[in-house]
Amino acid sequence: MTVQTAGRRMRRGVEIQDRIGSSRKEDTAARALEGLLGSDKHISSEFFYDRHGSRIFEEITRLPEYYLNRTEKELIAEAGIRFADGLCGADIVELGSGDSSKISIFLGRASRGARASARYLPVDIDRSAIERSARDLKQNYPELRIYGIAADFSGGLEALPPPERRRVFCFFGSTLGNLLRPAALELVRRIAGSMREGDEFLLGLDMVKEKSILERAYNDGAGVTRRFNRNILKVVNALAGTGFDPAKFRHLAFYNKREARIEMYLEAREQMTVSTPLLKDDIIIREEERIHTENSHKFTKRHIEEISSYAGLDIAGIFTDKRKWFSLLWLKKKALK
Ligand code: SAH
Ligand code: AVI
Repeated sequence: MTVQTAGRRMRRGVEIQDRIGSSRKEDTAARALEGLLGSDKHISSEFFYDRHGSRIFEEITRLPEYYLNRTEKELIAEAGIRFADGLCGADIVELGSGDSSKISIFLGRASRGARASARYLPVDIDRSAIERSARDLKQNYPELRIYGIAADFSGGLEALPPPERRRVFCFFGSTLGNLLRPAALELVRRIAGSMREGDEFLLGLDMVKEKSILERAYNDGAGVTRRFNRNILKVVNALAGTGFDPAKFRHLAFYNKREARIEMYLEAREQMTVSTPLLKDDIIIREEERIHTENSHKFTKRHIEEISSYAGLDIAGIFTDKRKWFSLLWLKKKALK
């Protein structure tokens, strides 16, 4: 038997719920354009992830300079030894699941029986990433049931089915760091609010470290991050019918020490006027004007404590590498007194 979703045939045991396709394209386009009209120009980083953007991000994860992915995978492999059986009979909810390569490490550590009794629920804004990863996971673990949800997690977790079983939440890659600090705190609190006793939460965070290491990770020699950054303009072009020429923008990424974050911008090489059928007014961009495309916050022990206490979660453990470059937090719901 195959399950059919939104006109596409999926493998047996795979279902995808689409909360993106149903939202109006004009509304999404309006959100993308919103930040381009004023003087403080920005495009929300969620617009990086179309089919191409997700692929380019996967290229980033393989770069020698991008230590985040490698380091976290090592931690997950280590933690997996302790967690694998915990997946037994659980709903594994992964936010911003991307290529699902990290959960695949966990699943590889679990027994076939544990995988057969678990269900994987990847939540991602890019439906194509869920489709691809579901296909790959099914190939490796045919016994696993997958219920993908194409949705924006920043609005909360209402797209998730009601909890019927124990849940393990996963949020890897330091994607939490792409939100502003207050929004990040709120999101973790919302996740914690939907957790029940016995549920767990694995959260991967990139730690504050020497500026040169951080800046190298976002200014790779092969120019992949530059391509990723510029691709956001192609996404806006496709959504809003704008005619941005990505080559007319420089890629900038630097560490803001005060905010403890990498900031990424596209800087115009020349003055330009861009029109869209969706707006009366043109978008005017001055020479050297910057469009802010991403923040990537880095974390300290103090941030970790702030996040867990704000959300009312206990830190059951912190897995970190020798250099303390990355942390994988193991959080649990505080028991009611
Ligand atoms: N977890 C993977 C992928 C990280 S890339 C890893 O660690 O390698 C960030 C992922 O989050 C992308 O797949 C992107 O599509 C998704 N994403 C970004 N913003 C999102 C949002 N607001 N809602 C849902 N998914 C989002
Ligand atoms: C997905 N996210 C955590 C990445 C990061 O490091 O902030 C996205 C990225 N941007 C540039 N390189 C990678």
